[in-house]
Amino acid sequence: MMPRCLCRRALQLLLTVTLCVYVTRAAEPEQAWDTAKNRGTAVPQMKEAAEHDIDDAGPVDEGTRAYHAALQALSPLYSSDEAEMLASQQSISFLRSFISRRAGPVDFMLRILSNLHIPGLAGSRSAPKGEIRGRGAKVLDLLSYAVEQGNMDALAMLGEVSMFPPTSIPMNLTRAFEAYTTHATLTGSPFSQSLLGFFYATGYGGVVEVDQAKALLYYTFAAVGGDQTAEMALGYRHWAGIGVPEDCMTALGWYESAAERAMAQFLSGPPGGRTLLLYPTRLSDLIGGVYGPGSSVASTGWNANRAAVRAGQARAAGETWQDILEFYQYHTDQGELEYTLRLGKIYYHGTLYIPSAGSSAGGDAVGAVRQDYRRAAQYFVRIARHMWPRDSLKAPLANLRELDERSTILVAQACGYLGRLYMRGEGVRQDAKIANMWFERGAEYGDRECHNGLGIIHKEGLLGSKDDAKAIHYFAGASGADLAEAQVQLGRYHLLNGDSVSATQFFDIALRHGSPFEAYYYLAHIHASMARAVSLGTTSSGSCAVALSWFKIVAERGAWDNDWMGEAEKRWNTGHEQDRKIAMLYWAVAAEAGHEIAQNNIAYLLDKGEDYGMTNHTSSSALLYWTRSAAQNNIDALVKVGDYYYHGLGIADALIPEHLEKAAGYYQSAVESQLSALAMWNLGWMYENGLGIPQDFHLAKRYYDLAMETNPGGYLPVTLSLIKLYARSIWYTISGGKNHGLSLWDLRDATDEHWYLGKSKEDAKKARRNSIDGGIGERVGEDAVQWARDRRDRDEQGDFGPEDHLFSGEGEDGESVEFVETLLLLILCGLLAWLIYVRTQWATRRAVEERRRRDAAGQPDGQAPNHRNAVGRGNAGLRDVFL
Ligand SMILES: *[C@@H]1O[C@H](CO)[C@@H](O)[C@H](O)[C@H]1NC(C)=O
Ligand SMILES: *[C@@H]1O[C@H](CO)[C@@H](O)[C@H](O)[C@H]1NC(C)=O
Repeated sequence: MMPRCLCRRALQLLLTVTLCVYVTRAAEPEQAWDTAKNRGTAVPQMKEAAEHDIDDAGPVDEGTRAYHAALQALSPLYSSDEAEMLASQQSISFLRSFISRRAGPVDFMLRILSNLHIPGLAGSRSAPKGEIRGRGAKVLDLLSYAVEQGNMDALAMLGEVSMFPPTSIPMNLTRAFEAYTTHATLTGSPFSQSLLGFFYATGYGGVVEVDQAKALLYYTFAAVGGDQTAEMALGYRHWAGIGVPEDCMTALGWYESAAERAMAQFLSGPPGGRTLLLYPTRLSDLIGGVYGPGSSVASTGWNANRAAVRAGQARAAGETWQDILEFYQYHTDQGELEYTLRLGKIYYHGTLYIPSAGSSAGGDAVGAVRQDYRRAAQYFVRIARHMWPRDSLKAPLANLRELDERSTILVAQACGYLGRLYMRGEGVRQDAKIANMWFERGAEYGDRECHNGLGIIHKEGLLGSKDDAKAIHYFAGASGADLAEAQVQLGRYHLLNGDSVSATQFFDIALRHGSPFEAYYYLAHIHASMARAVSLGTTSSGSCAVALSWFKIVAERGAWDNDWMGEAEKRWNTGHEQDRKIAMLYWAVAAEAGHEIAQNNIAYLLDKGEDYGMTNHTSSSALLYWTRSAAQNNIDALVKVGDYYYHGLGIADALIPEHLEKAAGYYQSAVESQLSALAMWNLGWMYENGLGIPQDFHLAKRYYDLAMETNPGGYLPVTLSLIKLYARSIWYTISGGKNHGLSLWDLRDATDEHWYLGKSKEDAKKARRNSIDGGIGERVGEDAVQWARDRRDRDEQGDFGPEDHLFSGEGEDGESVEFVETLLLLILCGLLAWLIYVRTQWATRRAVEERRRRDAAGQPDGQAPNHRNAVGRGNAGLRDVFL
C-alpha cells in the first residue's frame, strides 16, 4: 500500500515540474519570427527584409533584393530543423546539469525526468508548424520572383531547396531538375552540371530517362569546371567502366585532381590542418552486417571491433550515450583524472553513434555526441590544474605541483589537448603563446602530442620566426613515440628535399600508425608518378590501382565542400519521412561519385524494400548497387549478389540455369576472400544439390568444413548440414550412384582442432589488443563505450546510480551464451524425441489394453479393426508432434 501511494505522489510531483518547465519555455517571446509575421504577399516583404542585408552593394535590382529576402527567410527554416534535432538532447543535458553526484531523492527524480522524452519540452523552442509551412511557401514565392527578374543565384537556390529542402518545403525533383537545367545552360555552373550528370546517370525518381551519354557529357563539363564530385564521378566511371571503357590511368587523373582539391581544403584550415570529417556510417554495420552478427563478414573476426558494429551492439543492449556520459561524469566528480580525460576526449572528437533507445522513427536512427570544444577544454583544464595551478607565459614550467607518475602522464596528455585547442583556436581564442605554454609543459613529461605541437609551432613560425631545425627535432621526438602526424611531417620534409625513399618510409610507417589522410595523399603521389613512368612502356601496372585507391580515399575523406555523406547522415538521423528521402538522394549522388558506403546503404535499404522515392524497380536497382559495392571489396555485398542470382531477383528471365552458375561464381569469389563463412556454406549447398554446378559431395563437404573453420560460431548448422550430407551420400551410394559417395573415412579430417570453445574469444582479445589509439588528429572517442565496459569489469564498482542497466549487454560472454543456446537446443531435441516416444508408448499401451479388455469381454470378431485403429492413432500422434 505504502509504496504505491508514494509512487503516485512522485508522479504528481513530476508532472507538475514538467508542466512548469513547459510553460516557462512556451512563454518565451519568439523574436526570431516577429519581424516577418503576417505579411501578405512576398514582394512587399522582400523590400524591407532585404534592406538589412544589402547596404554596400550600391544600386540593387529587384531580383537581388528578392533573392536576399528569400535567403533570409530560408536560413531560420534550416536552422529550426537543426534546433528541433538538438532540442531533445539539450533539454536533457540542461536537466542533467542539476544532477549532483549523490543519489538523493531529488536527483533521482531529475534523473527520471531527464530520461523521459517529453515532446513539449523538446520542441517548445521552434515556431508552430503551420506558420513554418507558410514561410516555406513564401521562400518559394520569393525565389520564383527573383528568377523572373533574372537573378541566377536565385535559380540555383531554387534548385537546391527543391532538391534538399528543409522539412517545411516539400521536395520536388522535377522543379529541381528544371532549375538546374536552366541554370547550367545560362551560367555553365559546374555544380549544376554535376547534378544534371547525376540525374541523367540514374534517372532518379523518374525525373528523366537514363542517358549515360548525356551524364558523361555533363559530368565532364562539371569536372573541367572544377567540381570535385564530378571529378570523382568521372574517376569512378573510368575505373569501373561505367558507360566508358575501363581505364585506370584516366581514372587516376580525375581522382588525383579531386584529391588535390581535398588537400587544398585540408591545408586551408588552422595549423595542423582542417579537422577531418567524421567517417560515414554503413547502415548495415549497426545491425552487425547485412546478414546479421556472426554471419556477415562485417562483424566477423577483427571486424567485430569496428566502432559502428560495437555501437550497434550497444544499442541492442539498450545502452545510450547519456548513460555512458553519466558513467564518466560520475567518476569525474569523484576526482578520477582518467575518466575526466576520457570525457574531454569524447567531447573534443565528438562521437558518431548514439545508440538511441527511443527514436521517432522506429528505433532506426542513430545520432551523436556533438563536438563541443568548450566543454572539452573545461575538462582538460580541470585535469591540468592538478599540476599547474597557475599560468605563466614567461616561465611555463614554474609553479609546478608534483603528482604521482600515473597522474603526471594524464596531465601531460591534457596539456597536449589544451595546447592544440589554443593553437587551432578551437572553442577558445587562437593564441600561439598560450598553446606554446601548454605544449612545453606536456613535452617536459614526454607527451608526444606536445612534441608534435611544438614542432608545428616552429615549422609554421607561429611565435614569429620559423625554425626548421627545431621543428624537425620536435617532430622526431613525437615520431619516435609512434605518432602518425609527426611521421607525416618528417616524410613531407624529406619529400621536399627530394629524398623520396626516406619520405616513403616515413609515410608507410605513418600509414601503419593510423594516419587517415595526409600519408595516403603523399604515397598516392609517389605511386602515381611510378605508374606514369611504367605506363610509358607497358599498359598495365599495379601502381596505378594502388595510387588510385589512395587518391580515392583522400578525395572521399576530404570533401569538406561537398559533404554528401555527412549531410545524408544528418538527414537520416532526424527520422522524418522527407528527410529520409533526402538522405537517400544524397547517398545516391555520393554513390555515383563512387562512395562504397553510399552504394552499400542504398542497396541495403532497397533490399529491405524501402525505396524512399528513388525508384520502383527495387530489386534490379538493389542488385546494381550491391554489385557496385561488391566491386569495391565488400564481401557481404558480393555474397548478396550471389543470392540475387541464386533466387533470380532483379534479373529479367528468372531461374534459368546460367543464373545459378553465376551465383556459384559469385559465391566462389566470396569464398576466395576466406572471410565469408556464409558464402562457403552456400557453395557447399550448391555442390551438394548440384545447382548450377555438377553435384559433388566431396567438394560440398570441403566447403561445409571451411565454413565451420572460418566461423566457429556456426558449427551447429554446419554440423547438421554435414549429417544430412552423409545421410544423402549413403543413400546415393546404396541406390547405385556412379560417383563416389563419401566414406566414413572422410570424417577423420573433420574440424576438431579448428574448433574449441573460446577460440573466437581469444581472437577478439587479440584484435582488441592490436587496436591502437591514434593521434589527436584521429578520433578515438568511439572506443569510449568499450573502455567503460572493460573498466567496469575490472573495478567491480556496483554502486553507480539506481537504474544501472548500462552494462547489462552481452559483452565478452557472447560465446558462453551461444554455448548455452546450443545446449538448450540439444535438450529440446531430446525432449521432442522423448515426447514422441512416450506418445507412441502410450498409444500402443492403450491399444493393447483395449484389446485385452475386448478379449476379456469376449468379442473375438472385433479384434482386427481395433488393432488397425490403434496403429492409426499412433501415427496420428506422431503427425501431431511433428506438425
Ligand atoms: C513540381 O514542380 C513542377 C514544375 O515546377 C510542377 O509542375 C509540379 O506540379 C510540382 N509538383 C508538386 C507535387 O508540387
Ligand atoms: C513505375 O514503373 C512503371 C513502369 O514499370 C512506370 O510506368 C511508372 O511511372 C513508375 N512509377 C513511378 C512512381 O516511378
